[in-house]
Amino acid sequence: MNIFKLEDLSISEISDLLDLAEEFKSGKKLNYNGEKIIANLFFEPSTRTHYSFDTAALRLGCKTLNFDASNSSLKKGETLYDTIKTFESFGCDALIIRATENEYYNHFPNKINIPILNAGDGTGNHPSQSLLDLLTIRQEFGSFENLSIAIVGDIKHSRVAHSNIDIMKRLGMNVYISGPEEFREDAYEFCKLDDIIDKVDIVMLLRIQNERLEKSMSITPENYHRLYGLNVERVNKMKSNSIIMHPAPFNRNIEIADDVVECSKSRIFKQIENGVFVRMAMIYSALEK
Ligand code: NCD
Repeated sequence: MNIFKLEDLSISEISDLLDLAEEFKSGKKLNYNGEKIIANLFFEPSTRTHYSFDTAALRLGCKTLNFDASNSSLKKGETLYDTIKTFESFGCDALIIRATENEYYNHFPNKINIPILNAGDGTGNHPSQSLLDLLTIRQEFGSFENLSIAIVGDIKHSRVAHSNIDIMKRLGMNVYISGPEEFREDAYEFCKLDDIIDKVDIVMLLRIQNERLEKSMSITPENYHRLYGLNVERVNKMKSNSIIMHPAPFNRNIEIADDVVECSKSRIFKQIENGVFVRMAMIYSALEK
């Protein structure tokens, strides 16, 4: 089974993945005894997603190969497809791929015959991040229907936003979008953060994707923090049982104040913890389905 984007999965398939992740979190053991090889092919920088997939594979008793893009034949002009095909030829059992190009997986339809798990494609999709976000939300609130979330920041360049907006709406959540003018997209209606901060169950902050901007952001980091950043004053306006999320990496004192990162409402490190269990569920599904 490939997982390219959550749009390709039904709600019941998504629930099954979350249930399996929860079982792994509760101690379910499954061991491939070194008989499966998973290759992590990251063509873009990554800390959490890469090493969380790696940890997940190791916890399932798989062996892993970790491709070093900066020291590879990419430097000799080798293409993404030829690199991927090479790892298939080694006899790997599944590939975890992150690439700069949106929907890179559509460029070689049916040419790779082992499962691919998409670890992020450009500004497109980030299914494993969405699944770990959903698991974190479900653990907190029990279900999704009628929950409200504010997703705040660089919506335009964020694959996390694109994946989450779609699946959260499908799950019956009210999704509010906020952030600077320059990061807006016509497809979504934007709100002022201060108009919704006291109404939502979840505030999800996003990093400005500086590496994807055509020109540097026009707003200064100080003004960004003042207008869109989550500071203690705004946290104090949030509902009593509401939570704060961020896919990380976060930029302290830009989208989130230093003293909010680990405050009692923050689930940022819980998201990271859940990421391993969700990715165990994804790898298991990729290998078995
Ligand atoms: C995100 C990503 O790579 O899209 N990070 C992640 O996977 N945890 C968000 C980001 O880089 O801002």
